[in-house]
Amino acid sequence: MPLDSIVTDSHNHVYIEDIASHVGEIVTVKGWLYHARSSGKIRFLMVRDGTGIIQCVASLADLGEEAFSRIDEMTQESSLVVIGTVRADKRAPGGHELVLQRVIPVAIAQEYPITPKEHGTAFLMDHRHLWIRSKRQHAILRIRHAIVKAIRDFFDARKFTLFDPPIFTPSACEGTATLFATDYFGETAYLTQSGQLYGEAGAMAFGKIYTFGPTFRAEKSKTRRHLTEFWMIEPEVAYLDLEGDMELAEDLVVFVMERILETRRDELDAIERDISILEKIKKPFPRVTYTEAISLLQKTGHSITWGDDIGGDEETTISNQFDQPVMLHHFPAPIKAFYMKRDPEDDRLALGFDMLAPEGRGEIIGGGQREDDYATLVKRIEHEQLPLDAYDWFLDLRKYGTVPHAGFGLGLERTVSWICGLPHVRETIPFPRMMSRLKP
Ligand code: 4AD
Ligand code: MG
Repeated sequence: MPLDSIVTDSHNHVYIEDIASHVGEIVTVKGWLYHARSSGKIRFLMVRDGTGIIQCVASLADLGEEAFSRIDEMTQESSLVVIGTVRADKRAPGGHELVLQRVIPVAIAQEYPITPKEHGTAFLMDHRHLWIRSKRQHAILRIRHAIVKAIRDFFDARKFTLFDPPIFTPSACEGTATLFATDYFGETAYLTQSGQLYGEAGAMAFGKIYTFGPTFRAEKSKTRRHLTEFWMIEPEVAYLDLEGDMELAEDLVVFVMERILETRRDELDAIERDISILEKIKKPFPRVTYTEAISLLQKTGHSITWGDDIGGDEETTISNQFDQPVMLHHFPAPIKAFYMKRDPEDDRLALGFDMLAPEGRGEIIGGGQREDDYATLVKRIEHEQLPLDAYDWFLDLRKYGTVPHAGFGLGLERTVSWICGLPHVRETIPFPRMMSRLKP
């Protein structure tokens, strides 16, 4: 067979993650050279194919002089196809190895910039397109995928309809300070900050929906928790109040955690995550009112007074008090968005909640009950000096059969960063966008 067809032929091609069911068979693995080590007339090649890494043993006796000598020309990250017999071996990393009959170099890589030595984060971020091949980054992104899948499964099982909101929008959802504006045929369009307002229309049409898409905020702060482009999951449910909304959020997080512990053990081990902390996550999560949080913060030395927004440092202090995620609720209305419903028992408060992840991580979810009264909502929009005409369609939802409803937004990257125990959100998405990073 000519070389090109061996490289693309699928006959006997096996992915490394499936290798255990091919013991004793001759298989083809297609991948890249992760690492090579020699010992006399034997070469140990660690080959990765994107689904795993396997040790391949090549001997001069099996390969012959010429093929054997070509192995030594192969540099780190050279692409190659190997053919060999699968052997179960407890001593081999992963429990299996390939005894090679053929090694077919595909492309010899130039000197690879990422080596086992320590590199600075800026260097690694500049080489993000290559960095994602490394074990740790690979494990994090596989966990991200499993979290996405778990979230979808959770809502799909509860018969929520997936509802995709637009990315170009005419108006703000989460304040005008963080809008990205772009020219839209002579008009100004903004990249969406949240799918919520559209999700509310969806809830009135489908009863219960969830949105899942990228959202954008021109965050001018350089923090460990902020990206300018991040993914949000936003359920919205008709006939739901704040209490039911908080329970939904709890159930979602518990479900996701159980799924990850079940299906991503190897990846959690690869990044050395302390699993015992994650295993503790169980319902019910502690509930703390904003007012209680303020006195807790004052007792721990924060100079904060009732009515102030709770910032990142304060969130860290609060979440450090508990092993479980904390549900903070009933905030002063002025620090929350225009659409939040006021507490009928105390007009100073809004029926909103934030879920703070443990280990000092801070907010991963924000949500609450929505203002469902037409006249009150008009007043709120005017009070925030937002352009009323951009929200006319949103106000229609209160004109035509308005009902109590609630929802929330879960930030995917902050959730990945919590579950993986990462100090910064930048490693939780393939190509992070931050104030000072647009490339690669
Ligand atoms: O609290 P936020 O701003 O809430 C909303 O956008 C609501 N409209 C959601 C809703 O009720 N449907 O954002 C929700 C979550 C935060 O808790 C956080 O996890 C994440 O989105 N988030 C960010 N993640 C990364 N970078 C940023 N700049 C983020 N801003 C918010
Ligand atoms: Mg928030």
